[in-house]
Amino acid sequence: MKKGLLWVMLGIAGSLGCAGAMNGLSSPAVAQGSRFVIEVPPETQKEVKEEMVSMLAALQTIVSKTLEGDGQAIQAAVEPFTATGTHGHPEIAMFLSQHPEQFSAWRQLGRDGMHATFSRIERLAESQPLDKEAVFKETGTLLGYCYGCHATFTLP
Ligand code: HEC
Repeated sequence: MKKGLLWVMLGIAGSLGCAGAMNGLSSPAVAQGSRFVIEVPPETQKEVKEEMVSMLAALQTIVSKTLEGDGQAIQAAVEPFTATGTHGHPEIAMFLSQHPEQFSAWRQLGRDGMHATFSRIERLAESQPLDKEAVFKETGTLLGYCYGCHATFTLP
């Protein structure tokens, strides 16, 4: 098995463990200390964190607007984070290109995982009536990538 794929699988296994954490069975903090530090300038760190907070807001919109059946609001919220809407972070790519296995894990969790899932949610949100169950299912997949990446990477 490719090492990169292993990272993703660890991430996904970690996301399953997350449900246990919510029941107080285990703590996500166990992953602390083993995360790969992405050394990028403070300005890039700030940009990444701001984007992250906006993604958290989009996630909240997805959940609340799915309940209301408002596909248009979901489309507007996810558009900046879809595969075509996102602009990427050249500084991160530059740093990770020196660490091929981590680079591959970052792309699988970010571009191929999270951004592709945002794209699928956008497409689901285009059809009326909204298939709420399908959107919630993809939202669960999305959360697996959020957790998987946070368990794998950190900033300085
Ligand atoms: C490809 C990797 C990756 C994915 C996927 C990812 N994140 Fe992050 N996120 C990070 C990194 C790296 C940090 C910085 C964490 C640190 O410094 O320990 C971060 C930090 C954050 C923060 C804290 C921001 C701050 O101001 O400190 C939030 C909130 C967050 N992410 C939300 C999300 C949500 C919601 C998702 C899923 C929709 C998500 N992230 C998916 C890599 C990722």
